[in-house]
Parts: sequence; structure tokens; C-alpha cells
Amino acid sequence: MAIITINGRDLHFTLGQTILEVAREAEITIPTLCWLPKTGHNNVCRICVVAVAGADRLLPSCSTPAADGMVVETNSPEVRQARKSILSLIIADGRHDCFMRRLPEDRWPPYQVAAATRLHREHACSADGACQLQALAIEYKVPVKDLEPEPGDFPLDNFYPMITRDFSRCIQCGRCASVCSAIQVNDAIVPQFGRRAEKEHWWPAVDYSRCTHCGECLQVCPTGALTAKKAYGLSVKEDLLEKIRTTCPYCGVGCQQELVVKDGRIIRINGVEGAEPNRGSLCVKGRFGYDFIYSKERLTDPLIRREDGTFRTATWDEALDLIAEKFKKIIATSGPDALAGLSCSRSINEDSYQMQKLFRAVFKTNNIDNCART
Ligand code: SF4
Ligand code: SF4
Ligand code: SF4
Ligand code: FES
Repeated sequence: MAIITINGRDLHFTLGQTILEVAREAEITIPTLCWLPKTGHNNVCRICVVAVAGADRLLPSCSTPAADGMVVETNSPEVRQARKSILSLIIADGRHDCFMRRLPEDRWPPYQVAAATRLHREHACSADGACQLQALAIEYKVPVKDLEPEPGDFPLDNFYPMITRDFSRCIQCGRCASVCSAIQVNDAIVPQFGRRAEKEHWWPAVDYSRCTHCGECLQVCPTGALTAKKAYGLSVKEDLLEKIRTTCPYCGVGCQQELVVKDGRIIRINGVEGAEPNRGSLCVKGRFGYDFIYSKERLTDPLIRREDGTFRTATWDEALDLIAEKFKKIIATSGPDALAGLSCSRSINEDSYQMQKLFRAVFKTNNIDNCART
């Protein structure tokens, strides 16, 4: 059986596994930013580099196959220094203002002044507290205040109602393009990798004629480059949030959702990674269509139409009695097949089951259908 030695531990592995996969199975932490197992996307950011004995340079663990007899160090001083340098380059290449917000304005160094001159900076970055780049910068003690910002400006795509795309916080990891292509099969984002200086348009711009606003790209973005517009400016610090697992109410597919709740209100909805049937994906309605919960126009009581066509508020007993009376009258005069039921595709399976039971067993008609079947 093949054996690799990682940080002095001998580990069995299956041929074809990468160093990163073997390390993760053994609960050895190696940081990643671009790696996305669900699409196989990797080998862009280099933050996962490790030292392999005999290699003439550090190797990215996410794309380097494990080999029998290989000896790997994942956390040596050389590896940590390389990661720190990579993080410095990534941060200097953008305008990451979360670091600035912790200092009084008169103490902002050049990098932070440059970050503050960006448009759309009236709030702290919405990813502050949940950003994978920020977490690594803190862990590796990257001296942000000493960084010289790379010149250049960054587009801000804020034209559509669902997602704000602030490319000054983009690290070019390519995850967004990868999921748009491999998971949603929309190919709305042209992959743009490599050095910005060598490209006229380096940012992962969206072709909105192909985009369905599903937010798959938003869910995998490791930074604050992609933000749910409705959550813009809201703190997402993990310790202030409640997360509630639920089933999407919109259709019969039953996608699994995680509601991110702050002060009793939903501020974001994510798909639950790995959970069937949607494995983390959602459509535009499931991810963004939750405002109706808080609509003042929502009905909270049954309404009964008066003779003159206007409505009056009723109790549930009153409304149900009226419906039962009318159903009985129709069946008595025209027979049960004069009734037909259409159960709403937003209802849960159990409710649809009960409805067909009511029609078949109580009313004695098979005139029952569900709009999700069409
Ligand atoms: S994307 Fe991350 S590192 Fe950049 S400003 Fe936002 S929280 Fe900070
Ligand atoms: S919202 Fe969906 S379709 Fe649009 S770019 Fe993102 S992943 Fe692609
Ligand atoms: S927008 Fe986000 S996911 Fe896309 S390349 Fe930039 S950082 Fe990565
Ligand atoms: S995680 Fe390996 S190169 Fe990005």
C-alpha cells in the first residue's frame, strides 16, 4: 500500500489523491483559497504550497498528486514565510479596507488611504469576520500597514438587484467562474487567471445575457468581492449570527437552505453544501426571494368576501365552516366530480398528500393535481 509522510506522520493513501486530500483526511490543516472540491478547481492561488523533499521549489498541495515514499512538510518556517508573502501580494493587489476600519483615520498608512478612496465604501466590507483572506492574513500576521498598494482602479458592478461585485476585493481565485460553468452550466463568467498587470480586463466580469442570478458564484467567493446586495453593509461576524437549516418554500424540489439571521431577521440564505437534493445550489428565488416574509401586505387572517365584493376579516373557524358548507352544497347539487383540487407546488409533500386524501377519500373524486407536475 502506498505511504506518504506528512509532518512526520506515515499516512496510507489511494493513488490519484492529492497531497491536500491526504492531509485533510488526516486532519492536517493546509490553507486554501481557490481549491473547490465540488468542481475540481485548483492550482490558482498557491496559498496551499508545501515543502516536498527533493523538489526544487514549494509545490501546491491541491494539485500535486501524493506519491509513494513522498516526504512533505506543511507548516515549516519556509512554507509559512512563502504563504505570508503570497498573502501580502494578494492583499496589495486589491483594496481590502477591513484592516483600515480598526484604526483612527489619522493613523491610516498609504495602503489604507488608497483602499478608502474607492467608491462604495460607506460601510465596512460585508465579508468582515467571515472572509477567508482576512482570516489567513490575521493567522499569518501579514503586516498590512506596511504594504504599498498596486496602482490601478477596479470596476464596481452594482447594476443588478441581487449581487454587488466589487472587484477591488477580488483575489482572482476563479471559483466563481468554475461553479458558474461546472455546476450551473451557464458559462456567464469568463475565467481570468494570472497577473493583473498582463491583462487589460482581468476581473471576472459577468455576461448578464447568460446569468440567471442564482448566486452560486456568491456562495463560493472566499472574500467580500461578491456580496448579496440586500446584505450589503450588514456585519456578518459569525458570532453575531444565527444559522437555521430549513427547506426552501418555493417549489417541490425541497432544496436545503441555511438561513443566516441577525437580530431576528434573515440577512442571507445559503444552500447547504453536500445536502441532497441541491448540494449547495439554489435558484434566484430560493437564495434571494425572502423579503415577502416581512411584507406589511402579507395576509395574517382569513378574509371573507361580502355581498358587495369587499373583504372582511374572519376567524379560521368561520372561514373553514363557510368553505365546508359551500363544498357540501356543490357535491349535493352537482356530484363530487364538480369539484377539482390543485395543490400548490410551494406546499410541502405532507400537505399535498393530505389534500389528495381529502379529495379522494372524503369528497370521493379523483380530480386532484399538483402544479409542480406540469
Ligand atoms: S474581502 Fe476580506 S480581506 Fe478584503 S476587505 Fe473584505 S473582509 Fe477584508
Ligand atoms: S449568479 Fe449564477 S449564473 Fe450568474 S454569474 Fe453567478 S453563478 Fe453564474
Ligand atoms: S469574484 Fe470572488 S470567487 Fe470570483 S475570482 Fe474574485 S474572489 Fe474569486
Ligand atoms: S488552494 Fe492550492 S493553489 Fe489555491
